[in-house]
Amino acid sequence: MKRTMIVAGVLVLGAGAVMAQQEIAVQQDNLMKSIAKNQYGVLQKMSKGDIPFDKKAADQAIASIEADVAKIAKTFEINPKQDVVNATYGSSQKIWQNKADFDSKIPPVQKAIADVKGKIKDVASLKTAYNTINDRCNECHETYRVKLK
Ligand code: HEC
Repeated sequence: MKRTMIVAGVLVLGAGAVMAQQEIAVQQDNLMKSIAKNQYGVLQKMSKGDIPFDKKAADQAIASIEADVAKIAKTFEINPKQDVVNATYGSSQKIWQNKADFDSKIPPVQKAIADVKGKIKDVASLKTAYNTINDRCNECHETYRVKLK
C-alpha cells in the first residue's frame, strides 16, 4: 500500500516536471515569436512595401524588440530538454553547454538596436535598421537555433 502510494506520487511528480518543461520551452518560443512579430511582421513588411511606411509604428516595433531582447538571457536560463510540440524551430543543447557564449550574442543585437533607434525617417533608413538588427539575430541562430522541419 505504502509502496503503491510512493509510485503514484513519483508518477505525478514526473508528469508535473514534463509539463513544466514544455511550459518553459513554450515561454522561450513565445519570446522569439514576439520579437519576430515586430521584426518581420512590422519592420520587414514595411521595408518591402507590404504595409505602408509609418514612422511611429516602426519606432514602436523597435522599442518592443529592445524590451524583448533584454529578456532572452533570463528566459533561456533553464534547459527544458524538449522542443515545443510541433514547432518549426528548436533550441540547440549547445545553449546550456555554453550559456555564456549564448548570452554573448545578445549585446550585439542591443547595440544594433541602439545604433538605429530614432534614426528611422523613411523606407531607406528603415531597411538599414531592419538589416542591421537582423544580421545580429542570425549570429545567434546560426549556432543555437535548430530547424526541426
Ligand atoms: C542569443 C540568441 C538569440 C538571439 C540574439 C535571437 N534569437 Fe531568435 N531564437 C533563438 C533560439 C535558440 C531559437 C529557437 C528556440 C525557440 O524558438 O524558442 C530562436 C527562434 C527564433 C524564431 C523561430 C520561432 C518559431 O518557433 O517560430 C524566430 C522567428 C526568431 N528566433 C527571431 C529572432 C529575431 C528577429 C531576433 C533578433 C531581433 C532574434 N531571434 C534574436 C535564439 C536567439
